[in-house]
Formats: sequence, structure tokens, C-alpha cells
Amino acid sequence: EKGGYDYFMLKEIAEQPKAVADTLLGRIDVSGALTLDEVRIPVAELREVDKVVIVACGTAFHAGLIAKYAIEHWTRIPCEVELASEFRYRDPILGARSLVIAISQSGETMDTLMALRHAREQGSKVLAICNTNGSTIPRESDAVLYTHAGPEVAVASTKAFLTQLVACYLVALYLGQVRGTQWGDEIRAVVRDLARISGEVERVLETMEPVRELARSLAGKDTVLFLGRHVGYPVALEGALKLKELAYMHAEGFAAGELKHGPIALIEEDLPVVVVVPSPRGRSVLHDKIVSNIQEIRARGARTIVIAEEGDEEVVPYADHLVRIPVTPTLLQPLVATVPLQVFACELATARGNEVDQPRNLAKSVTVE
Ligand code: M6R
Repeated sequence: EKGGYDYFMLKEIAEQPKAVADTLLGRIDVSGALTLDEVRIPVAELREVDKVVIVACGTAFHAGLIAKYAIEHWTRIPCEVELASEFRYRDPILGARSLVIAISQSGETMDTLMALRHAREQGSKVLAICNTNGSTIPRESDAVLYTHAGPEVAVASTKAFLTQLVACYLVALYLGQVRGTQWGDEIRAVVRDLARISGEVERVLETMEPVRELARSLAGKDTVLFLGRHVGYPVALEGALKLKELAYMHAEGFAAGELKHGPIALIEEDLPVVVVVPSPRGRSVLHDKIVSNIQEIRARGARTIVIAEEGDEEVVPYADHLVRIPVTPTLLQPLVATVPLQVFACELATARGNEVDQPRNLAKSVTVE
């Protein structure tokens, strides 16, 4: 049941800190090493992997896009991410040393299932990241890493997404660990940060009232754009998808670096643009570039809604609305940056009188083509 919330979606958004913590539980030992024995692919085989291919649909696909940054950074294994519906109809180049990761909340998505069959026929190992015990996708895979989000009822995926991210980070870090990369120290530090991240998600949830207020004030708009870079780009795509499916608004996510290649022509007076800002620490070049993007769109009239780390003062002069998120390592930022976008879409949908848990024309799991 809804446990006192008006909608399952609200309940599931609120459950995210627990879902994240549960997905980490028992998978990191006291020394900070990852213990993923449940992934029954022999370590010797994982050491030989020369390519990772991720297949998924919708929100799970966005988790895959974020995973690519983590996998390539921590393991130096090339990683491709593809929509399952595209992958299954081409001739992907796979072999026995390719590791295919199929991400699915339901474990029943037809295109993802067909994509994994396609991969196995070519001799690749398939690892499923799935939330539903005993569903078809994990049953047909060589190995499975379950997300422990608990049942997700609302059609719009929220807590499953955050746990898919956690599972992807675990796989990336585990591959890094078994292969022994140059990033050993960084991997240990990130494991420590991951162990704390559920508390950070909780803190974000506690500060969402201004986001709800803002969402209500935008209920009459037709379009909202989302910009991000690096791992913030898939977060922008996810924010736009949530808004489409819940608020039935025109919403698009762009890589901020693409602005001048077309999308900036869309900017007009008072158009809401949500910008996901990378951390000013670490890859600070990216931060500087996005600050100038915000300046550029604002100079053309955009209403800027800026999602930025606590302590990031540079964005302040250009933010019409500022949403603060906790300081996290760059690659983990999507775990905290996505939450305000879920709340934003849910509140906007409610303000527009839409059925939040059961958006029109959609099904929770797409078991047909
Ligand atoms: O069950 P799956 O994770 O395979 O589902 C994939 C998509 O259908 C799903 O994420 C869909 O995009 C959501 N409704 C988005 O909120």
C-alpha cells in the first residue's frame, strides 16, 4: 500500500535512501573490498573481458549511459551502451570476451530480453542487473546482480533507477578490483563514499519544498529543456523523460556542449532550462564550460534552474532558481542530482491534474515490441 502517501511514486521517491543502502548491503566487506561472489562469472573470465556492452530501455538505458563513464574510467575496458530495441536488429560485433550487461527493473522487457538472447547466441556472457527476482531476463542470463529496491509500482521509475546506478557502480568497481587498475586508491575512496551516499540522498529529499513550489509555478508551460555534461548528460535525459511521461510536456535533454550546434536556437524569453552542473572540484574544466553555457542561455532570456553542489558559488549570479545537492565524487553525482528532477516531474504532473502513478498510454513493463 501507499503508506500514507498520495501516490506510489511519492512513496518510492521517499524510499530511495533505503533502496540504495539495501542494494549495497553485504556487497562491501569491512576492508572496503567488493564481495560480488553472487555474480557467478569466474574472476578469470572477468579479467579477460575486452569489451562491455550495455543494453536496456528507457530509464534503465539512462543508468547504462552513466555506467559507461564509470566502467571506462575505473576499468579502462571499452564500453558501449545501446538501446535494446536497436541492438537486437543489427549485427553487433561481439565475442566470447565481450560482457553484455542487460539492465531491467521488471526483468520482462521484451526488447531487452531479445537483445540478451542475441548476445548469448554469439557466445557472449550476459550479466543481468534486475529488480525482480526470478523474472525472465535474469533467468536467461549467465549471471545476475539484483537491485534491492523492493517492488516498484508507479509506472515512472525512480528508486529502481537509483539502485541500477548503484549496481552499475558496483560492477564497474568490481571489474576494476579484479583486474587491478591504476585507480586502486580512487576505487577504495569511492567505495567509502558509496557507503555514505544513502545519507546524502536522504538530505536531498529533506530540501525539496522549493523544488515543488517551482514545479507548481511552471504548470502552465509547454516546454522545459535539460542540459548536462559528462554524467550530468544522462541525468538531463532522465529529467526530460520523467517530465514527458508524467507531465505530458515537451521536454528534451541535451549535452551542454551541443548547445551551439543547434539547441540554443530554441531558447526564448522565460523558457525554463534545467542545468545539471558538474562538481567544481576534480574535472573543473567541465564546470567552467557549463557556467558559460548558463550565462549564454540566460543572456538569451532562458529562466535558469541550476542544480549545483553545495559551496559552488560561481553559478549563483546566473541562477534564477538554485537547487543545492551535496558534494559527491563526480561519477556518483547522478545519485543525488536525479532526485530533484523526479520530485520536479511528479509535482508538475500533479499540478497539471495528471494521474501520477498511471500516466496515459504507458504500461509498467513493456512486454511487447
Ligand atoms: O523494466 P525495465 O527496467 O526493463 O523498463 C524499461 C523502461 O520501460 C522503463 O524504464 C520506462 O522508461 C519507465 N517508465 C521510465 O520511467
